[in-house]
Amino acid sequence: MEVDRRAFIASIGGAAAVATMDHEAKAEALEHYMEEQLDAQVAAQQGGQPEKFPTVAEIEAQIETRPYRRGAGSVFVGQRGENVKKLQPMTAKPTLKDFFELRFAPANHVLQSATRALKTGMSEEVILACLLHDCVLSLIKPDHGWWGAQLFEPYIPEKSAFAIRYHQTLRFYPDPEAGYEYPDQYYRIFGHDYQPPQYIADTYKWLKNHKWYMEPRLVTVNDLYAFDPNAKVSIEPFMDIVGRHFKQPKEGLGFDNSPSAHMWRTLARPDSPL
Ligand SMILES: [Fe+2]
Ligand SMILES: [Fe+2]
Repeated sequence: MEVDRRAFIASIGGAAAVATMDHEAKAEALEHYMEEQLDAQVAAQQGGQPEKFPTVAEIEAQIETRPYRRGAGSVFVGQRGENVKKLQPMTAKPTLKDFFELRFAPANHVLQSATRALKTGMSEEVILACLLHDCVLSLIKPDHGWWGAQLFEPYIPEKSAFAIRYHQTLRFYPDPEAGYEYPDQYYRIFGHDYQPPQYIADTYKWLKNHKWYMEPRLVTVNDLYAFDPNAKVSIEPFMDIVGRHFKQPKEGLGFDNSPSAHMWRTLARPDSPL
């Protein structure tokens, strides 16, 4: 079986990640990668057609087929068209862990993303950013990088907030050297002919020369391969990092008068009518 060296290196997090691995880890990663490729080839031979991605126009045509807008946060919309479920009440002085368990759950995507960052030896600021990067999707989806950074900014290191804010922009731009290719998932959800809006293109231009470019870039590197529905993950392995870098307010999230306190309260009480 032929191995595409670049794709393989990208799949394990790029050259920087490879440099941190010993021989055994590299061999194991290669074996795992080849197994996956083989599975994909077998599926293709058994009549699997290459996926046909929708166009922007096709996606737009779906707007009036739904009772909600795609930008609504996931706590506000029933899963797969079902009615919403009653939520467990939030604790009196909510912590980040409470929000993970009671509002962001199952949070598989961010937990897998952070697990990958931890395994590939990234900085604690990046691991924290990976852990938090998409949590705000429970509240709102458009511009989730900016919303997410604002939600967490009062409590986390500046570099982590920067990484959260700009991962949204960098996801649209491949950086094969860092181990990031444009994701198929984006062809699926935006359309294969989608062009990011001008403010995203301008933000990318500015980011490319920023001294912290790699912070959000590493979030995208961990983001891409973080969708495994069967992986068992929990916030426990990250509680030390959270303890060191997340300034938990003593009054509880939502009650400390921070600039994002109202966002936490909205997440705590999404059934509130006003
Ligand atoms: Fe994201
Ligand atoms: Fe993500």
